[in-house]
Amino acid sequence: MRPADAAGGAARSADPPRVVLGVAGGIAAYKACELLRRLTESGHRVRVIPTKSALRFVGAATFEALSGQPVHTGVFSDVPEVAHVRLGQQAELVVVAPATADLLARAAHGRADDLLTATLLTARCPVLLVPAMHTEMWLHPATQDNVALLRSRGIVVMEPASGRLTGVDTGPGRLPEPVEIAELARLLLERADALPHDLAGRRVVVSAGGTREPLDPVRFLGNRSSGRQGYALARVAAQRGAEVTLVSAHTADLVPPAGVRMVHVGTAEQLREAMLVEAKHADVVAMAAAVADFRPAALVDHKIKKTAGPPSLTLAMNPDILAELVGLRPAGQLVVGFAAETGDETGDVLFHGRAKLAHKGCDFLVVNAVGEGLAFEQPDNAGWLLSSDGGETELPSGSKALLASRVWDAVASRLT
Ligand code: C5P
Repeated sequence: MRPADAAGGAARSADPPRVVLGVAGGIAAYKACELLRRLTESGHRVRVIPTKSALRFVGAATFEALSGQPVHTGVFSDVPEVAHVRLGQQAELVVVAPATADLLARAAHGRADDLLTATLLTARCPVLLVPAMHTEMWLHPATQDNVALLRSRGIVVMEPASGRLTGVDTGPGRLPEPVEIAELARLLLERADALPHDLAGRRVVVSAGGTREPLDPVRFLGNRSSGRQGYALARVAAQRGAEVTLVSAHTADLVPPAGVRMVHVGTAEQLREAMLVEAKHADVVAMAAAVADFRPAALVDHKIKKTAGPPSLTLAMNPDILAELVGLRPAGQLVVGFAAETGDETGDVLFHGRAKLAHKGCDFLVVNAVGEGLAFEQPDNAGWLLSSDGGETELPSGSKALLASRVWDAVASRLT
């Protein structure tokens, strides 16, 4: 596998990564077009392999135009090229989106009756299957057994999203948004090993985003935070099998992670209340939210008029939620804190991080340098993971999902 690339998108190599995008025959096949666009725009060379029934939903011409590559479904096209072996062997990632119940069944049982399933058998790279089907089909023991079998072989089967399906019914089985699939695809290209399903049965609570402390009905004090790191933590934990609740303060326009329960809050006090409730039964709590340290001491119930000149503000301290969660944590619970540091004349970013870990008393602290062009609102992040047992691991520059996956690696090994 390739090492992570600091520049984002494709992994570092002379050639961009080769990705096979398999498309099975479900109504969500149209969303594969957006995923294909995202993958090619990130610089990947994508070869699309639809099943015969996928082509009843989206024409081959669409996939050929968007990928710039020919499209075949059977093993009897391109015979001198031995495509059914070569495409899988050369791929650095195979993504199948949507993966129907039938595709999952064929993949689980090693069928090779078309070009896509033959490619799945010859691929030695990471494989990401993204299910989409009706809730009944997804929850059927046959499908669940196939998914468990595929996961036991190291294949990443994404948790489907919940929501409106084709027709009037709702429930788990929706194809996750293409932006989420692309994020996970990039993560699999960046990681040097597979994404394990090692948080199965664990309850994880993550906070994300910046709190907003109202001054009057239209103004607030807030923190800069896109919420991307917290959302990536929640998304990756869910894909590693955890039951995840994401307590979200204000964020950029982000897609709620598939398979994650969302709780929306506004102020630090609301975040505190939600975290105290959610953390009670959690195995792991990760506080990635940017909590405003101060709030206006009084909320003015009407818009403050500027005609009277600038108002003088009296601020009150907000509670330190992380410290409170550490103090209240049940036996065995792990608490992960985050610290955005800039370094100053008294010490560098790491020096301040070590002091904060000791002061907050959490089990892990993710320290990252912030400033112009670093971390805030960026797709990428880097830093250090400090552990209460003295461990210090550098988190090299990569996607926020990669950083999240390294945090979960450390948490999962401490949980066992
Ligand atoms: O205290 P400081 O903001 O430097 O520490 C950052 C960590 O503490 C983050 O994990 C953040 O979510 C948490 N925090 C908190 N309550 C506050 C301020 C920060 O839980 N009032």
